[in-house]
Formats: sequence, C-alpha cells, structure tokens
Amino acid sequence: MPKMENSTAISIIGAGKVGSTLALLLHRAGYRIVSVISRRKSSAKKLARLVGCRNYSDSISDIAPAAGIIQIAAPDDELSTIAEELAGCPSLDFSAVAAFHTSGSLTSDELLPLKRKEATTFSLHPIQTFSKSSTLSRQAAMMKNGFYGFEGPSAGLKIARRLVRALNGSLVRIPKEEKILYHIACVFASNYLTSLLGTVEDLAVRVGGDLRLSHFKPLVRTSMENAFLQSPAMALTGPVARGSSRIVELHLDVLQKTDKQIAELYRQIGLKSLSLAAAGKSLSPHAVKKLKRMLESHRSEK
Ligand SMILES: NC(=O)c1ccc[n+]([C@@H]2O[C@H](COP(=O)([O-])OP(=O)(O)OC[C@H]3O[C@@H](n4cnc5c(N)ncnc54)[C@H](OP(=O)(O)O)[C@@H]3O)[C@@H](O)[C@H]2O)c1
Repeated sequence: MPKMENSTAISIIGAGKVGSTLALLLHRAGYRIVSVISRRKSSAKKLARLVGCRNYSDSISDIAPAAGIIQIAAPDDELSTIAEELAGCPSLDFSAVAAFHTSGSLTSDELLPLKRKEATTFSLHPIQTFSKSSTLSRQAAMMKNGFYGFEGPSAGLKIARRLVRALNGSLVRIPKEEKILYHIACVFASNYLTSLLGTVEDLAVRVGGDLRLSHFKPLVRTSMENAFLQSPAMALTGPVARGSSRIVELHLDVLQKTDKQIAELYRQIGLKSLSLAAAGKSLSPHAVKKLKRMLESHRSEK
C-alpha cells in the first residue's frame, strides 16, 4: 500500500472523452486535480480550466510532484509509452503514487515500468460508452450509479474503491487472465448492439412508408428491460422462441434474396436465440432440432 499522503491529489493524463468525464466527476467529489497533461496543450488547457487546475501541459515531465493518483485515459497503444515516460520522471515519489489506466481490454501490465518503481498500478474501466457526439455534461450524468471494471492487486483495490465511491459508482472485480473476455462482453453489450440497431435502420429504409428507426424504440427498450428484469432466456420472444419454423424459413428466404449479410447475421443470432430458448425449456426437442437444421443449412441449400 503506497503512503498516499496526497490521497485526494490526482493528475490527469489524456484529456479526451473518458479522461475529462472522470476528471470532472472527481473534481466535483472533492479531489484536487494537480496537473492535466494531454497530447495537445489546447485539450489540456480546456480541461484544466474546467477542473480548476493551473498546471497543464503537453509534456509528461510537467506532472505535478504532488500527484498521489495518476489517471491515464489515453489511447490503448499509447499506455506503455506513457508509463515509460512517467517512470523516467525524477520529481515523482513512486512509492507514494497509484497509477491506473481506463482501458477495457488491456491489463495493469501496461503500467509495468511504474510498478517496477514501486508505484501501485491497476486498471479501472468505466463500463459505459463515451461517444464523440455526446457532451461532457451528458457523459458525466450517464456515469451516475455506473459500474467500473477493476483489475489489479489488493493495494490498488483499496484506492480504486475510494475513487469509485467518490464517482457514485460500484466496482466490479475482473480476473486479470479474463480481462480480454470481459472486453468482448462489453463489445457485444455496446458496439454490436449499436450495429444491430444499424441493421434495424437498414431494414426500416427497405420497408419504406413511414417506418423509421425511432419507431422501434419502445420495442428495444422493453426487450432490454425484460432481459435485465428476468433473464435473456426468460425474456426471449419471437418465432425462434415459439418454435415457428415456417416463419423462420420465410424470413431466411426473403433475406437471402435481399441482403446476404443480414441473412448471415439472422442465422447466427437465430442459433444463439435457439440455445436460449432450449435452455428456457420452452421448446420441444423436436422443434429445436428442426430449427437448428434450418438455421445451419439454409445458406448452403440456396
Ligand atoms: N470511448 C469509450 O467509449 C471508452 C469507454 C471506456 C474506456 N475507454 C478507454 O479509455 C481510454 C481513452 O479513451 P477515450 O475514448 O477517452 O479516447 P479519446 O477521446 O480519443 O481521448 C484520448 C486522449 O488521450 C490524449 N492522448 C493521446 N496520446 C497521448 C499521449 N501520448 N500522452 C498524453 N495524452 C495523449 C488525446 O489527446 P489530445 O486530445 O490532446 O489530442 C486525447 O485527449 C482508452 O483506453 C479507451 O479504451 C473508452
């Protein structure tokens, strides 16, 4: 456990979407932002003004010596270089420093140069999406009662718990060896769900008439709520869950003629739906077998 004399003094590296949101929330929670460093001085200055910090720079070596905690929210590929640069800063008392990055896919090993200098290192990943199109105040509001994936040693856990409490969130421990699997789950929960809505939008355009993506909003919301309230297996409805092979075949026939990529998606997600329906025991073994054969073979038959 580091000495952490400056337990609420924090330096921010990376004044982008995630870095700025967390910095703002920590500032509001009473943390003292002692330096803001970003690739461009203009980004650092903008965030520094917002969080009442006078020390901003585009150079890691300008980090405040008082930094107790260092938050690194830079692109994944930059993390190890930043850690190397930080490890070369003569002004830092590393045994009193806790450094974390916010990547969802990479582990605290990216910060090894700092760990070797006896700093406490961990990763703390907000389980949320931060889009370019969103404003900082909306992003900050979105993080209320948010979850943070933590990976690292127990000394880091104590510091992370304090940070997450200040952020009004909850901490979720992630085993280091499964960090990448955790990130794949995040990709499905966010990015691929968004891509599925892109597919809904494509189909709405093909249907024409008055139909727009926004008309699916109540359907999407209720499906999500049901899955969280019950379980995905319990919440599943539709032709696969009902064992309606006639309708599934009709869908596949139409898609094969209109859009082969969507047909392939339909088949793959249909197979996942089938395993959910089978787990929920709502279908007879015969219905499961028939649908499985149809979803697996439809492409090669056509
Ligand atoms: N976006 C999401 O939905 C999301 C969600 C959870 C976690 N994350 C993770 O959070 C981290 C940051 O992502 P982000 O979405 O906030 O990215 P971002 O908006 O692109 O911000 C990255 C920031 O890092 C700065 N930067 C780049 N290279 C740097 C360097 N060598 N030294 C110092 N600063 C540097 C950039 O500087 P300038 O602005 O000055 O050019 C930029 O402000 C990544 O690890 C990402 O995987 C992202």
